[in-house]
Order: sequence, then C-alpha cells, then structure tokens
Amino acid sequence: MAEQWATLGVDLHLEPTGPGLRRGLTDALREAVRTGRLAPGTRLPSSRSLAADLGIARNTVADAYADLVAEGWLTARQGSGTRVGDRTVVPPAGSAHRRREPARPAHDLRPGTPDLASFPRAEWLKATRRALTTAPNDALGYGDPRGRPELRSALAGYLARARGVRADPQRILVCGGFAHGLTVLGAVLRARGVRTVAVESYGLGVHRDLLTAAGLRTVPLPFDERGTDPGPLKDEGAVLLTPAHQFPMGAPLHPDRRAAVVDWARRTGGLVLEDDYDGEFRYDRQPVGALQGLDPDHVVYLGTASKSLAPGLRLAWAVLPPGLADELTAARGGLDTCGVLDQLTLAEFLTSGAYDRHVRSARLRYRRRRDALVAALAERAPEVRATGIAAGLHAVLRLPPGTEASVVRSAAWQGLGLYGLSFFRHPEAVTEPLDAVVVGYGTPPDHAWAGALDALCRALP
Ligand SMILES: Cc1ncc(COP(=O)(O)O)c(C=O)c1O
Repeated sequence: MAEQWATLGVDLHLEPTGPGLRRGLTDALREAVRTGRLAPGTRLPSSRSLAADLGIARNTVADAYADLVAEGWLTARQGSGTRVGDRTVVPPAGSAHRRREPARPAHDLRPGTPDLASFPRAEWLKATRRALTTAPNDALGYGDPRGRPELRSALAGYLARARGVRADPQRILVCGGFAHGLTVLGAVLRARGVRTVAVESYGLGVHRDLLTAAGLRTVPLPFDERGTDPGPLKDEGAVLLTPAHQFPMGAPLHPDRRAAVVDWARRTGGLVLEDDYDGEFRYDRQPVGALQGLDPDHVVYLGTASKSLAPGLRLAWAVLPPGLADELTAARGGLDTCGVLDQLTLAEFLTSGAYDRHVRSARLRYRRRRDALVAALAERAPEVRATGIAAGLHAVLRLPPGTEASVVRSAAWQGLGLYGLSFFRHPEAVTEPLDAVVVGYGTPPDHAWAGALDALCRALP
C-alpha cells in the first residue's frame, strides 16, 4: 500500500509497511502512537470511516485496531470508541538531557524535573497580574540585556539572605536556564583563551557537551567520600562544581575542599563555576551556603528556577565576578533577554514572599517522599543503601556489586524511568566505579508516588 493521508480527527500521515494490509496498517498505527504523533487519549475514527479514507476493507481496519488493543497501544470502550492508550506517550520536550529518550515511562524517577502538578499556579497568576499592572510601559521594550532590574535586585536580596551569595544587581545576568548560562560562559572562556575546564567525575553529560560544543575540553576530577577532590587542578581555566549538593552523588563539598578550590582560583586566576541547582532543598541540616560567599571575585554563582519552580520557565541567574558581567552580556547578544513578563513575575514572586512560601511547602512534600523512600527500602530492599539524602530531589541507591545494569533493566520492565549511576560518569573518570541507581523523587505527582515506590522496590535486589 502506498503512503496515504488518513483523516483521524487529527491529520496523520500513515506509512504502512510490511507484508499485507492488516500488518502494514497495524505497524503504521503502532509507530504513530509509539512516537507520540498520536497523543494518549486521541480518539481514532471508526473502522468504517478509516477504511473509507484508506480505500481498504473495514474488517482490515477492525482487525488492526483489535491487534493494537490486545497489545495495549489502544483502548476500546463501548460508547467512547477506540482511543490511544495512556501509557504510550512521547518524550517530553525541553529537558535537554532527556531529548534522546524514546518514551515517557509509567513512573518517571529520572532526576531533573520537580513535581509539576504542584507548580503554584494561583500564586504565580496573582504575581503576574500584579507585575503587569505595575510595570512601566518601557518594561515592555527591549530593555537591559542583563535582565529586568526589578528581577536582578529581587534576586540579589534573596540570594544574599537564603544562600549567602554576595550579589550586586549590576553583576547579575538573567539567563534562559542554567544551560544557557553555561553556554554563554563557555563562549567567554574560549574567547579568553581557555582550552580546558575541570569537571566532576559524576555530572550531567549534557552540561559537559555544552562545554565541548564551545570548544573546551572537559577533564574529570577524582571523587571520594569528601566530595570532588580539587587537588589535581593545575592551569585549567575553570572548574565546574556542584558544591552544596554534588550532582548526582548528593554529598556537600567538604569545607577543606571548598577552601582549596578557592585557593586554586586565587593562585591561578581560574574561575569556579558554582552550579547551585537545588540549594533550596536541604532537609536534615542547616543549608550549606554558596561557595561564592567565600570569594565573589573568583566564583561565578549559577542558580535556576528549574527545581524550585519549573524547568519550563527557562529562568536562571548568574552572579558574576567583576569584569565578567560586561563580557558575558556582550557574548549573549544585546537583544537576548528572557521574556520580560516572566522576569517581572518572578521578581514579584520573590519580593512578596510567595517564593519562600512555595519553597517551604515543596520542601516538606519532598521530605515526606524521601522519608517514604528510606522506609520502603529498609523494609523491602535491605541490601540497598540510600545515600545523598540530606538534600535535593534525588537519592543514590547503592547496590550490590555487579547489579546496576540488571536493576535498570528490571526497572524498565516495571515501567520505571531510572538511570544507573554510570549514566552520569565522565567517560575519562578514574574514580572507582560504583553500582548504584539515581532515584529522582521529585517528578511523580503526589498521588503516583506510592505506586512508583512500589514498582521501584520490585526492581531492586
Ligand atoms: C546538576 C544540574 N544543574 C542544573 C540544572 C538546571 O538546569 P536548567 O536551569 O538548564 O534547567 C539541573 C536540572 O536538572 C541539574 O540537574
């Protein structure tokens, strides 16, 4: 059968392949569902009308539908017709490190996204209304490429109070996510003649790739129980670290090492790029303050709204040492600001106290999830040890040696999206590999958390 357009209520280009009409149609529909071209819940046309569209026998369509219902791709109910099933969704757009994932699992335990169902919609709307009502007309113009002054001064106040950052609004740059900030920093470092950036043995590959794309080589530093070891640092131009909560291992950088890395930067003129991605979420102890507070002249502080609010906002901020603010502003391009309404809304959200209220209630919710995770492991998977649990939205579950790959496979069978620790390892890391999985407990909505936990325990040894 040739390529055809069928009217499915949505425009769908079907490319039936394989021997026989029934098989070809079944394969084409399955592919359309699997890749997300037909979204979950989409109602399919009756077998009669699809058969007429395609010029084939009605029974052929009915048989193809029946095959796909039996396989779980479609559902058929009296009265509501045939629809695309729920568990077969496309990969979400947006999160850079998920772009190559084939499908969203039933329970997503990959670290990265907070619970989007608890985004404070009503408060955000209120803040948007207030921000828009009070904004001067010129706020809607091209504006300062560093970002709106209202947001930069709200951030300076908040970061000083909550994270111990020494922030001057003149030296804050609003970015479209941490990834954007890192991209611009990469370009500036390269333009300054830097060739190599030191990174952690474990981290997000997508961030390493951004540096590589800027023409920089990444070299991994060793990692042990005191965190990343800055000892081997030499004449690299910069080091990228997650000092408050190592990603993904979860430990804070040991105070001696915090001091050592700042000493290195002072001695060599290198820059420390501090990724403070989830500093708001600390459960068991006093928050670990930002490293930037130790030396604002040598540390670039990078924060983001991706964990505390939602990654889709694409809002982040860089607090820059003197001299770097102008270079970075120039590198990002004079017109490259983030959407002004979201910036003004975040400024209002911060100054009204809504941000603090939201973070406090989210912290409580995530803490309960973490406690439930630890309790479930103690009861159902005593061989597994949860580490890195004092903060953040993920935990590292240490597994018996040699079991990581089989646990990740078995998690996939349970419908879980789960990464093994090796996924985060720098390809040149020399640190002894560990068997572990990284469990992000932020993403599932509250009502799905118990089910996710149950499936996880079934996948563990
Ligand atoms: C280690 C780390 N850094 C930074 C971020 C934030 O990235 P962005 O602001 O680009 O969404 C994340 C989010 O998943 C992260 O895991």
